[in-house]
Amino acid sequence: MTVLVVGASGFLGAEVCRQAVAAGRRVVGTYHSGAVAVPGVEGHRLDVTDRAAVRALVARVRPAVVVGTPYRYADWAVTADGAAHVAYAAAEAGARLVHLSSDALHAGRPEPYGDDEPPSPVFPYGAAKAAAETAVRAIDPTAVLVRTSLILGEGSKQIQLCRDALAGRAVLFTDELRCPIDVADLAAAVLELADTDHAGVLNVAGPDAVSRADLGLLVARREGLDPAGMKTSTGAEAGVLRPTDVRLDSRRAAGLLRTRLRGVREFLAA
Ligand SMILES: NC(=O)c1ccc[n+]([C@@H]2O[C@H](COP(=O)([O-])OP(=O)(O)OC[C@H]3O[C@@H](n4cnc5c(N)ncnc54)[C@H](OP(=O)(O)O)[C@@H]3O)[C@@H](O)[C@H]2O)c1
Repeated sequence: MTVLVVGASGFLGAEVCRQAVAAGRRVVGTYHSGAVAVPGVEGHRLDVTDRAAVRALVARVRPAVVVGTPYRYADWAVTADGAAHVAYAAAEAGARLVHLSSDALHAGRPEPYGDDEPPSPVFPYGAAKAAAETAVRAIDPTAVLVRTSLILGEGSKQIQLCRDALAGRAVLFTDELRCPIDVADLAAAVLELADTDHAGVLNVAGPDAVSRADLGLLVARREGLDPAGMKTSTGAEAGVLRPTDVRLDSRRAAGLLRTRLRGVREFLAA
């Protein structure tokens, strides 16, 4: 049974590849500007904005499962159109699709967001992820759309941002709340969902909400760094155009999955 990971050169995509290889699957992975670095994975260069190329690769690989992770922060054609192309090609090949979505499609509010809540984007990246969801659902109503939050682990850009703030090179907001998840838990959940017929949006994030600044303190403790020099601010002060308080309620996923979704305090202490 072949798993095609679109975006295998990315942080989550690489971990999905590692776990799928370890589970004995044939794994094909795509890269664009980077490289697929996981042993045992057959790598192919792919630009998801090229619909014909996506269709041709999927038709050639004939995967049972497609995991769609690619995005580029400020690039609608990759994040939205690319997701549509991947969904179209997966449906055409009769493959099970797991599409990666984001909490960034919500506007932010003090109450957690349930799985079934429609997107309420307030900035271009969130809008592109919302458009991607709409396209994926329309093309393949049987696909599962995994809405997740900050993805952490060794090599994570979120952890690097914390290290930079601790060194005074970046700023962490005290009012930007998220529900981080460990990349290993998320990859396991993605592969587990691939083997189910769960359809539609599912929140898959950690159970604990923390601010970016709290996350910086947790990273400082884990890495034995002095938090005294950590630079903090608020989203409002910095005038950023992106949601601040976005908590995903992942209780449905926690009840559905064997994979335990650990809270950030637990996995950063491990
Ligand atoms: N990271 C987070 O904290 C976070 C939070 C919430 C949701 N998510 C979602 O989770 C998913 C994975 O995130 P990640 O952090 O693992 O991403 P990442 O490390 O930035 O990887 C992005 C992937 O997209 C590929 N890509 C970019 N442009 C492409 C193009 N034109 N054609 C084909 N592939 C292209 C990249 O390939 P190259 O590197 O080879 O160019 C890379 O493999 C994304 O869908 C993201 O929206 C992430």
